[in-house]
Amino acid sequence: MTTPSVTLNDGNTIPQFGLGVFLMPADQTKQHVLTALELGYRHIDTAAIYRNEQAVGAAIAESGIARDELFITTKLWNSRQTDAEAAIAESLQKLGLDHVDLYLIHWPTPQYDTYLQAWHSLQKIRADGLARSIGVSNFHEQHLRRVIAESDVVPAVNQIEVHPSLAQYELVGINDSLGIATEAWSPLGRTADLDHPVIVQIADRIGRTPAQVILRWHVQRGLIVFPKASSRERLQRNADVFDFELSADDMLAIDALDAGHRVGPDPETMNVH
Ligand SMILES: NC(=O)c1ccc[n+]([C@@H]2O[C@H](COP(=O)([O-])OP(=O)(O)OC[C@H]3O[C@@H](n4cnc5c(N)ncnc54)[C@H](OP(=O)(O)O)[C@@H]3O)[C@@H](O)[C@H]2O)c1
Repeated sequence: MTTPSVTLNDGNTIPQFGLGVFLMPADQTKQHVLTALELGYRHIDTAAIYRNEQAVGAAIAESGIARDELFITTKLWNSRQTDAEAAIAESLQKLGLDHVDLYLIHWPTPQYDTYLQAWHSLQKIRADGLARSIGVSNFHEQHLRRVIAESDVVPAVNQIEVHPSLAQYELVGINDSLGIATEAWSPLGRTADLDHPVIVQIADRIGRTPAQVILRWHVQRGLIVFPKASSRERLQRNADVFDFELSADDMLAIDALDAGHRVGPDPETMNVH
């Protein structure tokens, strides 16, 4: 499995493809992560709120893969925005690691107005070597501009919901213009986009699975993806998207599926603690 890397604005690199473990039950996570690592995955995206950091850590330890070959992301949960240094210490302890490769503010939770404080803490966390890169998730333009204006540090990534029915052209463009890499969460629309006739038709014509077609569309847009999958076969096939290209016409046909449909919460109103 050969995965290209994306260079972040701090000079670090991130594999463009990985495994997400949201909604992966803790008692199954270790085995799925081990299978993925065995298949060549090197990038794992977890979060404190997924409650499976310990299982991810157990898989990393058991895999025997050198730490510097892996790219591990975790996220600061909303209720810990005023307490980020203690929160990352807990995450690292669960993961069994002395640093993560990327630490993200999970949601801006505008109602609480504490994400700026969290952003200052993340800079300290990076300076202390506990996270190699720092970034945000679910941030809109005003949240991005505020943290940049008030800190002079540009987030390395913004992890946002993106899939064919929520293509996010505007926000991806804003990320690009600010030098922020876009990570696409729920890249398959949590399966909602897999049976769209346009996707199925392209997949049938080029002899690929619908998931591969969608994941290739993300990759050709330059986005970083980490679909969740729970079987060896899906893990293997999903990752097999670097030896073919979608034509310009097929890219345009998928681009046209944008309908502004979210499968997750709207960051403007997501204030769950
Ligand atoms: N920052 C955030 O706020 C945020 C929010 C949501 C997600 N994320 C991250 O993004 C990652 C991916 O998003 P997601 O898990 O929500 O959704 P997703 O990756 O778009 O979809 C996952 C679903 O697709 C199924 N699937 C995977 N490959 C398939 C295939 N080849 N054919 C048919 N079905 C397939 C999986 O089923 P099985 O598992 O049964 O195989 C699972 O039900 C998460 O795991 C997490 O790391 C971040």
